[in-house]
Amino acid sequence: MRRPSASGQNFAQKVMANTILIGAQWGDEGKGKIIDVLTAEADIVVRSQGGNNAGHTVIHRGKKYILHLIPSGILRRGKVCVIGNGVVIDPIALVKEIEGLKNLGVRIGRNLLVSDAAHLVLPYHRALDEQRELRKGAAKIGTTKRGIGPAYGDKAARTGLRVSDLMQPRLFSKKLEAKMRENNAILRALGAKPNDFREVNQQYLAAAAALSPFVANTVVYLHRALQSGREILFEGAQGTFLDIDHGTYPYVTSSNTTAGGACTGSGVPPHRMDRVVGVMKAYTTRVGEGPLPTEDASFAKKLHQMGREFGATTGRARRCGWFDAVATHYATMINGIDELAITNLDGLDEVNPISICVGYRLNGKRLDVPPCDSAQWNNCEPIYETMPGWSESTRSARKFSDLPKRARDYLKRISGLTGAKLTIVSVGPTRAETIVL
Ligand code: GDP
Ligand code: IMO
Ligand code: MG
Repeated sequence: MRRPSASGQNFAQKVMANTILIGAQWGDEGKGKIIDVLTAEADIVVRSQGGNNAGHTVIHRGKKYILHLIPSGILRRGKVCVIGNGVVIDPIALVKEIEGLKNLGVRIGRNLLVSDAAHLVLPYHRALDEQRELRKGAAKIGTTKRGIGPAYGDKAARTGLRVSDLMQPRLFSKKLEAKMRENNAILRALGAKPNDFREVNQQYLAAAAALSPFVANTVVYLHRALQSGREILFEGAQGTFLDIDHGTYPYVTSSNTTAGGACTGSGVPPHRMDRVVGVMKAYTTRVGEGPLPTEDASFAKKLHQMGREFGATTGRARRCGWFDAVATHYATMINGIDELAITNLDGLDEVNPISICVGYRLNGKRLDVPPCDSAQWNNCEPIYETMPGWSESTRSARKFSDLPKRARDYLKRISGLTGAKLTIVSVGPTRAETIVL
C-alpha cells in the first residue's frame, strides 16, 4: 500500500519514507553532506546512475571521505548500501574505493550490494573518453575522463559487458577479447595506444574475485526490503542540468540524473517513491564546459581564495556564479521536487550585495525557462535582482531563527523563486552544521 507523502513534515519525526535526493543544479551541490544527514532515518541507500565521475564529500568525526561509487550511507553503521543496475562500474576503481574506506576504518561487508545488471567501465572506455575529448579541442565537454560516456554508449548500443559477465570468468574473458579487438582497432585508428588483453583480463578477473561477495540481484533485494517496510534513500549523482535528456546537451553526462533515473536505475517503481528532495547551493557552480549564464569571475575568485569550490573527483577549480532561479525552478518541475536542501549558505557570508538571476534575456525577449539549445542558453543574459548581504558568519546557526534576518530573507526569496518548500539549510560541511526547518 502506498504510504502518504512525507512532504512538509519535520525530519525530527520518523517520516522518512522512500526519498529521491537529486542535485538541482550542475552537480556538487552538497548531496553527500545531505545524504549523510538523511541517512540517519533511512535503512538503505541506493546509487542508481552515474559512476566514479561522482565525488560526494562527507565529513565524519573530523575525517573527510570522498565517495565515488559507493553510496554515502556506508559511513553509518547498520545501513545497507546498494549500487544499482543503472550505475556504470569500473571494477578496479570500486575495489580501490572499498580498500581505501576499509583503511580508514569503515566496515564493508554485508552492508554493500552490487547489482549484477550494472554495466562495466573498461579501459577502452577511459581511453576513448580521453581521445574524443582531445579531438574536440576547444569544443570539449570537460569530462572527468572516467570513461562514463563510452560505457553508457556501449550499454545503449547493446555492446556492453555487465557485472554478471564479470562473475563468469571464462565467458567474460571471451567477450572481453572480442570487445578489445574491436576497440583496439578504433584506438589505433585514433592514434592512441591499444590496451593489452592479457593484462586487462588479469586485472579484471582479480577485481571480479574481490567483488563477487557483494554481487546480487539488487532489484529483488530492494523489493523484499520494501515489503518489509524498510525505507530507502536514493542518492542522486551529478545534477539536473548534467542530465542526458534535460541538461545543457552536449555538455552533460550520459545518464538520467533527474528523479526518474532513480526508478530505472534501481528497479523500484515510481509509485513507491514518496518524496523528492532537491539539493542546491546558495549560489551556482559547474565543473567542465557548457552554459553557466550567471558565471562571475570575481565571485569565483573570492570563493577560490577561501579554499572553496575545487572538484572532489578531479580537483579542478569549479566555475562559480550567482543563484540561477530560472534553472532551479525548471529543475523543480522536471524532478517534482517537494523539498529543498540549500547548502553552502556560509559561502555568501562575506558577499555584499548578492545577486539572484530571476529571468533570462535572449535576443531582446525575456525567458522564464531555459532554452533547449546550449548555444542559445550560453547567450542568455541573466536578469538580476540584488539583495543585501548579511556580512557575518552563519556557521554556528542551528535553528532558522539563529540566522541573520538578511540570510533568512535571502533563503525565503530563492526557495520562493524555485517553488519548493525549504526544509534543510546547510551552513558548513559537517553533520552538525545543519538547520532542519
Ligand atoms: P556532491 O557531489 O553534491 O556531494 O558535492 P561535493 O562533495 O562534490 O561538493 C560539495 C562541497 O561542499 C564539499 O566540499 C562539501 O564538504 C562542501 N559542503 C557541503 N555543504 C556545505 C556547507 O553548507 N558549507 C560549506 N562550507 N561546505 C559545504
Ligand atoms: P557529483 O555526483 C559535477 C561533469 C563533468 C563534465 C560532464 C561530463 O559529484 O555531483 P562525465 O565524466 O560524466 O562524462 O563528464 O559532467 N560531471 C560532474 N560535475 N559533479 C559531478 O558529480 C559530475 N559528474 C560529471 O565535469 O562537465
Ligand atoms: Mg561532487
